[in-house]
Amino acid sequence: MVFARVKSLGLLGIDGFPIEVEADISQGLPGFDVVGLPGAAVRESRDRVRSSIKNCGFTYPVSRITVNLAPADVRKEGSVYDLPLLLALLRASGQLNVDLDSSAFVGELSLDGEVRPIRGVLPMVIAARYAGLKQVIVPSGNAAEGAVVDGIDVIPVSSVSGLIGHLTGTSPIAPAKPEDFPNLFVSNPAAPDFSDVCGQAAARRALEVAAAGSHNILLIGPPGSGKSMLARRLPSILPDMTQAEALDTTKIHSIAGTLPGGAGLLKSRPFRSPHHGVSVAGLTGGGSIPRPGEASLAHNGVLFLDEFPEFSRVAMESLRQPLEDNFVTISRVSASLTYPCSFMLVAAMNPCPCGYFGHPTRLCKCSPAVRSSYLSRISGPLLDRIDLHVEVPPVEYEQLSSNLKSESSAAIRERVNAARAIQLDRFKGANITSNARIPSGMLRKACPLTDAASAMLKNVFDRLGLSARAYDRLLKVARTIADLDKSEIIDTAHLAESVQYRSLDRKYWRL
Ligand SMILES: Nc1ncnc2c1ncn2[C@@H]1O[C@H](COP(=O)(O)OP(=O)(O)OP(=O)(O)O)[C@@H](O)[C@H]1O
Ligand SMILES: [Mg+2]
Ligand SMILES: [Zn+2]
Repeated sequence: MVFARVKSLGLLGIDGFPIEVEADISQGLPGFDVVGLPGAAVRESRDRVRSSIKNCGFTYPVSRITVNLAPADVRKEGSVYDLPLLLALLRASGQLNVDLDSSAFVGELSLDGEVRPIRGVLPMVIAARYAGLKQVIVPSGNAAEGAVVDGIDVIPVSSVSGLIGHLTGTSPIAPAKPEDFPNLFVSNPAAPDFSDVCGQAAARRALEVAAAGSHNILLIGPPGSGKSMLARRLPSILPDMTQAEALDTTKIHSIAGTLPGGAGLLKSRPFRSPHHGVSVAGLTGGGSIPRPGEASLAHNGVLFLDEFPEFSRVAMESLRQPLEDNFVTISRVSASLTYPCSFMLVAAMNPCPCGYFGHPTRLCKCSPAVRSSYLSRISGPLLDRIDLHVEVPPVEYEQLSSNLKSESSAAIRERVNAARAIQLDRFKGANITSNARIPSGMLRKACPLTDAASAMLKNVFDRLGLSARAYDRLLKVARTIADLDKSEIIDTAHLAESVQYRSLDRKYWRL
């Protein structure tokens, strides 16, 4: 045989798709060409494949070799194709005569024929199942991700010789099973608990509302008041992800290579807190081999931006579109791709450079001009997208020194879960899971108001000079507050609390 074709899988955005690796061996000067939009890493395959072939007791064909990756119109990245390429060469040179038609192969090779882990196995295995294949051969380091998908055999291999033994039937390898992995479904290792936080009743309540409806929240207060401490406790009160959410979030982490070892499916919502020096690409994704950014790694979870004004202006503004659309688009020369990023933004900041503006006992040393320039780092449109603005005042001595334990995360989480269950029921079949994601078209129906609340809303709208977006967000937060109160209709108390979370910007921003 001089020609062979082996199935493999590629990635586009967060989804996998089938690829075919074709090898053609012809007479002529020895050479090696790859066609079909290969990325740089694919070109480097040759050396690894040649060395692996020799080290496993086969012969590398000394002829003219042409490799084609089909379909030719999508760029192929990474070292995923080492393994299918090796098999295509062995078949084309007549050294391996087994039927490979119902299998797909992915994996990077080391020079001595070991099979190394790659990124993106979960979406690839899902794509293989959709394509109707019987088995996918994956690096054993990625077996847990594959084991999550049922309806297809996922064969973990750690070396080329092991794979050949499996394919020829001399030593078959058993498919990976969920039972093989004790840590398959990962929950957060004990996140810190809200019972450690003294006082701060208002901020705790606001975080509960934010968690219940997945709303964006800004914490503002003097140094040492507990903003970072409060935000880091948020994961302890978030509901687990639904099955569909877990699958999407895990796909992103599979592609980014950020899954913990042995993990198949993430259950707890991600909590990402990038440093304020993060680049735009780091935040929203990009790079020569495209990678999801922090915003996408936080998909269905929390993106925590501590010391908010320290983030660069471009980084902050790059979040505006994702905050609205819940996905990011990365433009490539060959095609543009999208990564989902439906996250809850949590931001923390001081009210001024010295930190003490509005402090009950300490004096702020900043001039109005300095304060105003500091606050203006957070642009109006960005502020508009944050549903809850909350003041975190300094803790009082009595509260710090009191022996009274604060309410635990478990108790808060119970209320959050109950409110989330109401939302899941309300949005059944609508492809959203929280109030923060209600599309405008559904807003009126999802947020019925009492007559008194209606009148109040009109009044507030005029008085606060709200934008249409702020109006929508105000209603959504009121919806969540009513859900926490187990009330189908939104009443004045619910609305009033929601309005209160919207009025802080007047104190600080409209000087
Ligand atoms: N409400 C509180 N209850 C118990 N301890 C607290 C509280 N607030 C602050 N602390 C203590 O103070 C430390 C500093 O708090 P934290 O780092 O959260 O402050 P911050 O508001 O983020 O300050 P900065 O503006 O400087 O970032 C905490 O690690 C904790 O030990
Ligand atoms: Mg802090
Ligand atoms: Zn100040």
